[in-house]
Amino acid sequence: MNLVEVQFVDADKTVFVQPGTTLLQAAEMAGVDVMTGCTRGMCGTDAHAVEADEGGLEPPGEAERGTLDRMGVTPGCRLLCSAKVRAGRVRVAGDALTD
Ligand code: FES
Repeated sequence: MNLVEVQFVDADKTVFVQPGTTLLQAAEMAGVDVMTGCTRGMCGTDAHAVEADEGGLEPPGEAERGTLDRMGVTPGCRLLCSAKVRAGRVRVAGDALTD
């Protein structure tokens, strides 16, 4: 199984993780502090702009999609507690972007 490269841009840290790992778990592995709340995709505290290779992330589940829609963030934003990596390379920026 190929590992997925996750880069935390602001912290200048990179970690390689198993597919299916959440970005929050990747942050913990990289030693990057992330502000969180519910850790269940409901509060939106951990919304960040995320860039990924094609198919690099699992699509958002119902709870994450609903929270992102309520927040009005740009399409590239994901909740780190909920977004799971799938393949390739993923870059996580510092904060969520709003329209
Ligand atoms: S910590 Fe609440 S949505 Fe991720």
